[in-house]
Amino acid sequence: MTEKPSGLFHRDRGWHPPALTPLYKTSVKRSPAAAPIAMPSTLSEDTGPVFTRDILGPQDADLIHNFASDGQSAIGPRIIVYGRVLDETGRGVPNALVEVWQANAGGRYRHKKESYLAPLDPNFGGCGRVITDEQGNYEFRTIQPGPYPWPNGPNDWRPAHIHFSIFGRSFGQRLITQMYFEGDPMIWQCPIVGTIPSREAIETLVAALDMRRTVPMDARAYKFDIVLRGVRQTMFENRLEGL
Ligand SMILES: [Fe+2]
Repeated sequence: MTEKPSGLFHRDRGWHPPALTPLYKTSVKRSPAAAPIAMPSTLSEDTGPVFTRDILGPQDADLIHNFASDGQSAIGPRIIVYGRVLDETGRGVPNALVEVWQANAGGRYRHKKESYLAPLDPNFGGCGRVITDEQGNYEFRTIQPGPYPWPNGPNDWRPAHIHFSIFGRSFGQRLITQMYFEGDPMIWQCPIVGTIPSREAIETLVAALDMRRTVPMDARAYKFDIVLRGVRQTMFENRLEGL
């Protein structure tokens, strides 16, 4: 396989879930039936998209308030989620767009196709975004989402989770994943989590409770570091962006 102009490492397909996982029923119809065909990426895909902080609203990183009426806040356990976006060589990825979406504290999404009987919270929208700083750090505030049932097997439930989409330096680094919470027994019952080949890989998706970053009488903190596909390049001190 030829090297991409961007110099990205090839993905380790044994680490990521396979496309076809019959215990996750909807994967059967949407997984490819033939071997994928490699297509060269274009220059714009190797170098973009680029996001700048001027796209962010003042409350984009505060899901407790960004959908709430004046003086109100979302219902649920208040938490801070923070961490670093890194590449496979351990370098922080600056200016990465981190988008998150989640169910409310009762496990209900604000979506027209949502059918779970748990109530909507009028002060919770369920999505937010943040851009990493020069060292790859990010942080947002939200409420801890609830678990919810889903029509897969006769009694399948998703563990509490937050969905993440991360844009790094280019489309080739994009990652979409889910974050789980330390100590949740539902993680090990979930057919979607069960598509991940190893326990070690699953544990990279479990955020650790961090009492040192907890704000007393306000919000507990969870630490979640995210590793994107890396770039084969020596880092120069005067070129921290890495490209
Ligand atoms: Fe979900």
